[in-house]
Amino acid sequence: MLDHDVVIVGGGLAGCRAALEIARRSPQANVALIAKTHPIRSHSVAAQGGIAATLKNVDDQDSWEAHAFDTVKGSDYLADQDAVAILTQEAPDVVIDLEHLGVLFSRLPDGRIAQRAFGGHSHNRTCYAADKTGHAILHELYCNLIRYGVTLYDEWYVLRLILEDNQAKGVVVYHILDGTLEVIRAKAVMFATGGYGRVFNTTSNDFASTGDGLAMAALAGLPLEDMEFVQFHPTGLYPAGVLISEAVRGEGAYLVNVEGDRFMANYAPSRMELAPRDITSRAITTEIRQGRGVHLDGSAGGPFVHLDLRHMGREKIMSRVPFCWEESHRLAGVDAIYEPIPVRPTIHYSMGGIPVTVNGQVRRSATAQVESFFAAGEAACVSVHGANRLGSNSLLECVVYGRRTGAAIAEYVAGRSLPEINEKFYLESAKQDIQTLLDQPGTLRIGALRQQVQDCMTQYCGVYRSEALILEGLAQLQDLKERYQTIRLDDKGTQWNTEILEALELRSLMIVGEIIMTSALNRKESRGAHCREDYPDRDDAAFLQHTLAYFTAGQVQLDHLPVTITQFEPKERKY
Ligand code: FUM
Repeated sequence: MLDHDVVIVGGGLAGCRAALEIARRSPQANVALIAKTHPIRSHSVAAQGGIAATLKNVDDQDSWEAHAFDTVKGSDYLADQDAVAILTQEAPDVVIDLEHLGVLFSRLPDGRIAQRAFGGHSHNRTCYAADKTGHAILHELYCNLIRYGVTLYDEWYVLRLILEDNQAKGVVVYHILDGTLEVIRAKAVMFATGGYGRVFNTTSNDFASTGDGLAMAALAGLPLEDMEFVQFHPTGLYPAGVLISEAVRGEGAYLVNVEGDRFMANYAPSRMELAPRDITSRAITTEIRQGRGVHLDGSAGGPFVHLDLRHMGREKIMSRVPFCWEESHRLAGVDAIYEPIPVRPTIHYSMGGIPVTVNGQVRRSATAQVESFFAAGEAACVSVHGANRLGSNSLLECVVYGRRTGAAIAEYVAGRSLPEINEKFYLESAKQDIQTLLDQPGTLRIGALRQQVQDCMTQYCGVYRSEALILEGLAQLQDLKERYQTIRLDDKGTQWNTEILEALELRSLMIVGEIIMTSALNRKESRGAHCREDYPDRDDAAFLQHTLAYFTAGQVQLDHLPVTITQFEPKERKY
């Protein structure tokens, strides 16, 4: 058995920022970070457009209150406002701290950090490093983990959270390199395992975003919060689905349909291309549905709209959004200086996740918490995003709540001792689970089943939803779940056995998918990213509450959590 004071699962921004905070506050603490990829290959590295903070470098009228209001309005009033106040008040400090760590932010001519416009924000407050902001931040955080001596287990896959008597005691891990199984015991466990974009068939997320942490928490009997709120980013590159940053629109690009109209004038006239993502994604989907999308030959009725940068000019494109130019060129053969980029909505972000307090402690119900278990980042739901996240608030959440959670953990573990664990039991049962997978007699390919799951989720739980669609989707998912017992693994070995990983990740996708659909079925209203065509209005009387979904004995059971409202009374959301 391996022992650490703290074990953090996930090497992205939230996990790295928490580890750094623990190391800063308790240099003697023995902190380990486990990740199924190398930390600098975590999905945070792909974040592009920026991190919001009211530094007031380009707009001295900005304030944390304005940032908080924009965030709450963007969330369609489902965000917990105490958590939003913390997010927006601490934002300038965490960004300056990143700068001091060495993050290479883009600059104004006078040397201060540059800030740009972003969707749903009423002031230019998004700090950035061209369109590679996640890359710039994650690399610096990683260097600092090395500096502080955090132990890294990279390319280890966590199989199970050890949760006994309402206390997290450690994790069971699988070393991808050689198939070794280990129990890692700790005084506190933190999940920062990111999102689940790969539950759907078109996503901006990397291949590792399979919701493993969420599925593990659910399998341990813990609830997941607000899983029906899945964010579509309006501008996924067609057909690949990779991100064309909102920064492109923040820098002035237009969305146009096949008729050449800037159609956002019909959906959000005061914000145009910089409306929040739920509204912009529905607008694009409506244009496509109504025949004003574009085909590759330029004719009408196609599956995408155009993102037009041409008026911005080469200098601005290449200095502010060079990566988006490169992606369009490499993956779609489009030179954005001369041609519009084909885009359509792509799955981007999970507003829901493992419910946590503002100090990152995991909740087991509306009133109780789990001992020694913490979470932050996209895997968690402290509910700063409610029903719809504003762009550039996600990096901010990772850094603010990664730091807070790290601070809370440092305090929590001081003076505690390591828990008792029956190591043999956990190793035997992990070994047995893997052997069962290897011995399955079926013939179904993992990739084929995964594709069916992703197609099902996309078709039945997409931008527009209805009871009939979701019920059909859930029925198909049940069928696909049964077929999981018939997948076949060809590789029976222990060296770098990616088939075992794919099989386990597919299980995560199916659990998370079922929880998303069931939560979506239950929410009979439209709010933020959750748009029910059979219930087109927001219904505060019945649904101004968070969903808690438990995965009990293979069935999803639902409960609720109240929304915290402190500053901003819910009102009609117009842009
Ligand atoms: O469009 C983007 O650059 C994405 C930013 C975000 O999701 O916060």
